[in-house]
Amino acid sequence: MRNLLNLAALLALPVLLTAARTHETNPMSSAEDFAEGRRLYRIHCGVCHGMDGNTGRGARLARRSYRHGDSDAEMFDLIEGGVPGTDMPGVWLEEDDIWRILLFVRTFAAKAGESCVAGQGDVAAGERLFSGQGSCLACHTVGPAGGRLGPDMSFAGEMFTPDQIRRALLEPAADVADRYRTVRLVTAGGERVEGVVLNENSYRIYIMDRAENLRAFDKGKLQSLETPTESLMPAYGNLLTEAQIEHLVAYLCTLREDRREGGTE
Ligand code: HEC
Ligand code: HEC
Repeated sequence: MRNLLNLAALLALPVLLTAARTHETNPMSSAEDFAEGRRLYRIHCGVCHGMDGNTGRGARLARRSYRHGDSDAEMFDLIEGGVPGTDMPGVWLEEDDIWRILLFVRTFAAKAGESCVAGQGDVAAGERLFSGQGSCLACHTVGPAGGRLGPDMSFAGEMFTPDQIRRALLEPAADVADRYRTVRLVTAGGERVEGVVLNENSYRIYIMDRAENLRAFDKGKLQSLETPTESLMPAYGNLLTEAQIEHLVAYLCTLREDRREGGTE
């Protein structure tokens, strides 16, 4: 009888686990909750976002502001439901556990350090470099314009700290997200193709080539297939001066979404 009751309780569990949010702000705050949040994050999130919120194939979480919203309630809903149409899955956990994960996720913003501020660079000069000499716009979008080989920079000022931008420019190979892995291949017919990997399985690889064409190849039919660790983005240490790098940092720091109603910063 007891066993039957336990079984009944187990069967009822999934219903209990579909957490409806009953709080607007995070009710969890203790050190135990934090430790549990970190443990759950490691299991459910670390593989994509990295344990420091800085690496991997998900969006960078070590930043001051999130595109999908910053309030506790918005972040809870995002973590629970995921982002449809992207790699970001939802999680099947109790409400309290999702709040615990959020408690841990909140520490990343502090690690992102100081907010993005212009520093000594000249914003207007940076903007000219971005579309001109630096040819950043060839691969990165800002607003409606630009290329799609690299990540969208429309909100760079919210996504990165100045140091993260400097590092991206000087050592692009140091932290290439999975979504932007470089691929070089030679087809059976001898065509050389270079681009970024969009997706792959054991048989096929889907890429965006340098001209932004989406292409798929049967791996078995290729003459060669390499995914080198370097980025498609050139290292700018030899291409630009230190002052020019600072201009670019200053410009990118100004790129923010104005989500606050009627507000300007
Ligand atoms: C399979 C990979 C994957 C896993 C697992 C994953 N994420 Fe994500 N996450 C992503 C991707 C990709 C995005 C960007 C979605 C988009 O383009 O809007 C994202 C976006 C986010 C964002 C929004 C960032 C922003 O700027 O709005 C947050 C917050 C987040 N994830 C937290 C988590 C947490 C917490 C977990 C674990 C419970 C988790 N993610 C698990 C891939 C993942
Ligand atoms: C040939 C294409 C290309 C050009 C040109 C290019 N980038 Fe990139 N960029 C990429 C790709 C691909 C990535 C993603 C892989 C990586 O992180 O290196 C990237 C990454 C970045 C990142 C880091 C994003 C992150 O999530 O960590 C920043 C910042 C950046 N680029 C800024 C610039 C600036 C500024 C310029 C111009 C001076 C520039 N890029 C020129 C392709 C390019």
